[in-house]
Amino acid sequence: MALYRHSGELLQEKRGIIGAVFKSIDRSKHGLRVVRRGTRFSRISIRRLFLWLFSLAVLFSIYLAVFGLKMPYHGKMEGSISSLREGQKELLGLDALEQPKKKSHRPRFFPCEVGLLDSVDDLVEPKDPTNFTQFLSGYIEREEKPFSNDPFEPRFGGHQTLEEREKSFYARNQTIHCGFVKGPDGYPSTGFDLDEKDKTYMNTCKFVVSSCIFGSSDFLRRPTSKLISEYSKKNVCFVMFVDEQTLSKLSIEGNVPDDRGFIGLWRIVIVRNLPYKDMRKTGKVPKFLSHRLFPSSRYSIWLDSKMRLLTDPMLIVEYFLWRTGSEYAISNHYTRHCVWEEVLQNKRLNKYNHTAIDEQFIFYQSDGLVKFDPSDPNTPLPSYVPEGSFIVKAHTPMSNLFSCLWFNEVDRFTSRDQLSFAYTFLKMKRMNPDKSFFINMFKDCERRALAKLFRHRAVSPPPAP
Ligand SMILES: *[C@@H]1O[C@H](CO)[C@@H](O)[C@H](O)[C@H]1NC(C)=O
Ligand SMILES: *[C@@H]1O[C@H](CO)[C@@H](O)[C@H](O)[C@H]1NC(C)=O
Ligand SMILES: *[C@@H]1O[C@H](CO)[C@@H](O)[C@H](O)[C@H]1NC(C)=O
Repeated sequence: MALYRHSGELLQEKRGIIGAVFKSIDRSKHGLRVVRRGTRFSRISIRRLFLWLFSLAVLFSIYLAVFGLKMPYHGKMEGSISSLREGQKELLGLDALEQPKKKSHRPRFFPCEVGLLDSVDDLVEPKDPTNFTQFLSGYIEREEKPFSNDPFEPRFGGHQTLEEREKSFYARNQTIHCGFVKGPDGYPSTGFDLDEKDKTYMNTCKFVVSSCIFGSSDFLRRPTSKLISEYSKKNVCFVMFVDEQTLSKLSIEGNVPDDRGFIGLWRIVIVRNLPYKDMRKTGKVPKFLSHRLFPSSRYSIWLDSKMRLLTDPMLIVEYFLWRTGSEYAISNHYTRHCVWEEVLQNKRLNKYNHTAIDEQFIFYQSDGLVKFDPSDPNTPLPSYVPEGSFIVKAHTPMSNLFSCLWFNEVDRFTSRDQLSFAYTFLKMKRMNPDKSFFINMFKDCERRALAKLFRHRAVSPPPAP
């Protein structure tokens, strides 16, 4: 299983950020033209021109200060008839325009060019996916009460023993834990309850884009409809999972689902009885387990709710999976590549209970996790830390297994999934040395080119124990 694919070396990622292509290039061209024309005038008219430009700039800043972000960019979009890619670039260009206004001390990261096809008409799905490792995974549906008098509490993730956990990493015909574990008859639901009509809808989906908002942590960001092809609108399910609290908050803000349950392209699916107190952990259920929520689906794209999709999903699947022969695509982190750094950062920002992070980290070190070595030409991944807000998956046996294993780590340890990604991947690779898993770890600047990033709604609730 030494095979993996990534669309750029680490150094390229860094270069990619520095040399990022964005719309300001066009603006500098205009600037040049103004100056050249200026040479034809006398010195006085040049001075006047600059005075005029200066006053215009002052007026513009006052305008910005007064009207803030309510800039009429949308009006500009409305009138333009552009192809999907042009429209996407235009939006990103506007994005770049907006950035200098924000006074932020954070380093800025920019999108880079992604060589998407121009249109979904050119799509060719690869005919022969037999290169992917084949086996059959079954999933534990129900756990019985063990023979003891101890109180038994059914859990959504089940009660996987360490021995079962060890075996679950083998890519072979077997039944494993992968969430959605029910208790014995008569016990309460373990959570993530969905309406039957939603399940029926989800059973029909072949291509999926999904996201979630639990605990009102984000605003609803609708995919930019005019950048999505008619083909995808017809063939892709866009599903937004929300809890009831979020739905009522969205409704107050005027986002009310129509009769068919849609807000824009999003089909809103209400999740009742959340399986974890930690909303972030609950969010990992749709993030990792789309192959279980959409049992007939062949491909899925996961998008964090802080992002607005600006790109046609079929073009994304073609670019990240079909074109590279990959079955799983995730971006690497924009600054961190080593789990050691990630642990420090999580503690520095108080992202989670420090003791729990340490327990997980020590466990991983004792089971072979090593530091990332960028100088190693045989490093099995271009980075050991992912930026997992955007994941593209083919629902192949290896991809599904990896998703289940990664979910189980989040269920057992902390919800900080960047901590468990590399460990899970490396252990799976170690335990299946002759089986291939085609993972495409792509550059973070590419992720930024496909979806627009927003801040979360407010400071997140304190981490659950
Ligand atoms: C399948 O794998 C073989 C060897 O690993 C490789 O030569 C071939 O190009 C692959 N085919 C596809 C379609 O990726
Ligand atoms: C796994 O299951 C499939 C389908 O039942 C079967 O064709 C295959 O031979 C099994 N593989 C092993 C190693 O038993
Ligand atoms: C932090 O995690 C540890 C170990 O999981 C647990 O024992 C402790 O109660 C947690 N502390 C808080 C404040 O939640």
